[in-house]
Amino acid sequence: MKVTVLFGSPNPGGTTAALTKSFLDALPKDTPVRFFDCFSLAPKCCTGCGACEKTGKCKDRDLDDLFSACEDCDVLVVAAPVYNYSVPAPLKAVFDRCQPYYYKNFRSFDMQTNPRRKGLLFLTAGRSGKYSFDIIKKQTGIFFKNLDITYTCGRFYPGTDAADFDCSLLRADDIAEVLLQEEKE
Ligand SMILES: Cc1cc2nc3c(=O)[nH]c(=O)nc-3n(C[C@H](O)[C@H](O)[C@H](O)COP(=O)(O)O)c2cc1C
Repeated sequence: MKVTVLFGSPNPGGTTAALTKSFLDALPKDTPVRFFDCFSLAPKCCTGCGACEKTGKCKDRDLDDLFSACEDCDVLVVAAPVYNYSVPAPLKAVFDRCQPYYYKNFRSFDMQTNPRRKGLLFLTAGRSGKYSFDIIKKQTGIFFKNLDITYTCGRFYPGTDAADFDCSLLRADDIAEVLLQEEKE
């Protein structure tokens, strides 16, 4: 099972990292994992230049490796904290840079991808209440759709900014176990 992670938190020791780690640690040690730290990558922003509408390719090449890994995987994990009801800016830049995939719906661009890819969404939010995740669920839904990835399941943890928040609650290892079991069947 090839796994690609788009990691959207700036904190390697934060809550989103803990949640993502619980998933990755539950995979066999030899699992091929491509991990993209969006803050370190600092993706160029889509400028709406229209080049991809004509050619199917972005004029900027800085995300070629990231999108190749999204195309060539079995499971794509999007992991992020909620920032102003959205994802942090570098991950939003990745979402916006998906316009070539959007245009493939209307043009005859040759984009062969594994049609059985599964999408997972891991989110953390400082405030309590499930509504913090609504916008990101919609944004990620469009992102997965553009990439022809089937959204499969997610983990959503509100209330992380509370002084008594229990970080041991941040778990997604059971999702890894289910995916591994399904792979065997
Ligand atoms: C710039 C910024 C904006 C934020 N906006 C929200 C928000 O709209 N709703 C919310 O519930 N939490 C918000 N938070 C809190 C984070 O979602 C929360 O602390 C998160 O768990 C941090 O994840 P991390 O530990 O991976 O950095 C915001 C935090 C920052 C720094």
